[in-house]
This record gives sequence, structure tokens and C-alpha cells, in this order.
Amino acid sequence: QSNYKVAILSGDGIGPEVMAEAIKVLRAVEQRFAIKFTMQEALIGGAAIDGAGQPLPPQTLSLCQQSDAILFGSVGGPKWTGLAPDQQPERGSLLPLRKTFDLFCNLRPGQIYPAFAELSPLHPRVSSLGMDVLCVRELTGGIYFGEKGRGDDSAFDTQTYSKAEISRIAKVAFEAAMKRNRKVTSIDKANVLQTSILWREVVTEIAKDYPEVELEHMYIDNAAMQLIRSPQQFDVLLCDNLFGDILSDEIAAIAGSLGLLPSASLNGSGFGLYEPAGGSAPDIAGQGIANPIAQILSAALMLRYSFGQEAAAVAIEQAVQQCLEQGIVTRDIQPDSRYGTADVGDAVAAAIAAAAHNTTT
Ligand code: NAD
Ligand code: IPM
Ligand code: MN
Repeated sequence: QSNYKVAILSGDGIGPEVMAEAIKVLRAVEQRFAIKFTMQEALIGGAAIDGAGQPLPPQTLSLCQQSDAILFGSVGGPKWTGLAPDQQPERGSLLPLRKTFDLFCNLRPGQIYPAFAELSPLHPRVSSLGMDVLCVRELTGGIYFGEKGRGDDSAFDTQTYSKAEISRIAKVAFEAAMKRNRKVTSIDKANVLQTSILWREVVTEIAKDYPEVELEHMYIDNAAMQLIRSPQQFDVLLCDNLFGDILSDEIAAIAGSLGLLPSASLNGSGFGLYEPAGGSAPDIAGQGIANPIAQILSAALMLRYSFGQEAAAVAIEQAVQQCLEQGIVTRDIQPDSRYGTADVGDAVAAAIAAAAHNTTT
């Protein structure tokens, strides 16, 4: 029996609400598979500012260092936006975690399943064709981590990318494409930005090692438009840190809701941080109506990428699909739904348990 140590960092807003459902689902996984999770919680973000005086307390960091993976909720909210920028939950906890663990590779998979085309806000003419994209986002470089400054009347952020940073994320995109539909669309703004010109050069070079993969370059503005016009044209989207942040929210909305999109942030040696692509949703926090699916699917990605437990990951994904099929969804998807966060978590956990009874495991 495998035993995995998971750092549970729920954070702020809807973070703790959706995390409770992911934990529920992981407990159901324990019942069905020969897997045990030792889950330990720690303060992060705004909750850590309030509880421990800083957004990333040393105890939290050392728990992460001693764990096999991090399951992360979300951080930030109106309560902390008055603090100095580098003391705020996002820049003071999430970004340092990504940097500390060298989590340069962020995977955000988004789908429109033909059977669920009506979840998508796109016209049925478009959504009925489906979508199956993987956004591969560079996560530890670019404008997020460049030199920043603020004067009285001006401010600046700088974007730097090295060849090494671009080539390591490009390789991930091509490797992923080899296992999927063998197409990489590299997103840039090479008509304006020096970093994008370099990005294009390096990606073109890496592509030579993957002759079976079709490479296409696309400007970010066009890509944002093409995604809503015909998302089925894409397979792997290779993005820098900022463009990937923006396009992944768009992908989530096209799939039906930001509350559906999970993400994996990986360092290349199996360690990862797993979190919903969306945030702490202060507008709906505390009401029990947040969609827990992105958090639950993030746990599935953890099983897949950090623990190599593919069968358990698929079991969670199938249970989520079943819930969607049965219409057990929150209001972000079905505005008149009577189901809340815990109902969806219960249904996913029950589907995992029921599948265990139906098979001879
Ligand atoms: P957000 O993603 O929190 O919310 C955007 C919209 O999507 C809101 O209307 C929200 O209600 C909805 N939404 C998001 N997740 C949902 C879910 N699971 N179920 C139902 N609806 C959901 O983005 P925002 O409002 O721009 O930011 C709020 C705070 O979250 C900010 O402090 C921001 O920095 C932070 N944030 C954190 C993370 C993270 O921790 N990984 C990610 C994004 C934003
Ligand atoms: C995300 C979030 C973060 C980002 C914020 C909270 C720093 O929006 O994970 O997409 O911009 O990367
Ligand atoms: Mn984002």
C-alpha cells in the first residue's frame, strides 16, 4: 500500500470550501484503491497573514518541503489588497511557492465534451464540435518575476526570458502533443516584444526534435479570438506566464466555468502543486455554492503526475463526468441549480464508492 504525504493549503475565500470536497473525494479513493493519504493542513495567504503574521509562514514552507505534493486552494481577497504588494497573499505566498519549488510547468487541461456542449457559453454551432486543449503555461519567469518598480508618477514591470527557460517549457509542450493530437500552437506577441521574438526562435528550434508534431505560431490577440471562434482547432497551447494566465481563464469559461478547470504546476522531477485555475471568488465565498470540481480534478492531476496513480486519477475524472451527466452541478454552471458545494463533493465521492462495488476490486 502506497502512502502519500500531502500538504493541504486551503487559503482564502472559497478555498477551504472546495478543499473540503477534494479531501472527501481523496478519502473515497482510499476506500477503493490501495492508497493512503497523510494530509496535513497549514496556513497560507490571507489566512496566514491573519493567523501567523505573514503570507507564507516558515512552518508552511517546511511542511511543503516534507510532503510528496501540495494541494492548494486559492489565496487573496479584498481584505488584504491594502497591504504592500509583496506582502499580499498572491505575491507573498503563491508566487514564492512556485519559485521555491521551481514549478516552471503549469498544465491546464480544458474540454468541451460533446455530451456536455450545453455547458459552454459558446453558440451550439461551435460548442457541438467540442474542444480538447491543454494549456502549457510557463510559470516561473516572464513579467511575473522580472524587475519591478514604483515611483510617484510611474511604475514598471519587466519581462525577461532566457533560452533555457523557453526551451524547457517548449519541450514539455511537444512531449504532451506527442501523446495527444500532435499539434502545438505557440502563443506570442512577436510583432512587438523582444521576448516573443526569442520565444518563437527557441520554440522553432525545439520543434525540429519533434517532426511528427505540427507547430503553429499565433499572436496572443488572434489566439484569444480564435479560441471562441473555433476552439476545436487547438491541441496544445504553449504560452508564457502572462498569456497563459489569461488564455486559461478563457479556456475555462469556454468549457463551462472557471470552477471546472484544474491545474498542475510541476518542477520536472515529479514534485507538484495542484490548484484550481480560478481564484478565491470573494463574490460567492461563504455561501456553500462554489463549484468544487476544479479542486477535485486538481487532486486527480496530483494522483496522475506526482504519484503515478493513473487508475485512481481516472476514477475521479469519471466520477466527475457522472455528476455532470446527472446534472449535479453548482449554479455557476446551472443558474437555477439547487445543488451546493457539498452536494457535488458527496456525489463525486459516492460515484467513486459505487464504482468500487460494481467492479471486482
Ligand atoms: P476568481 O477566479 O476568484 O473569480 C472570478 C469569477 O469566477 C467570480 O465571479 C467567481 O465567483 C467565479 N468563480 C471562480 N471560481 C469559482 C468556483 N469554483 N465556483 C463558482 N464560481 C467561481 O478571480 P478574481 O475575482 O479576479 O480574484 C479574486 C481573488 O482571487 C483575487 O485576490 C485574486 O488574486 C485571487 N486569485 C487567486 C488564485 C489562486 O490562488 N490560485 C487564482 C486566481 C485569482
Ligand atoms: C492563477 C492566478 C495567479 C496567477 C495569481 C493569483 C497570482 O491568477 O494561478 O492563474 O496569475 O498566476
Ligand atoms: Mn489566473
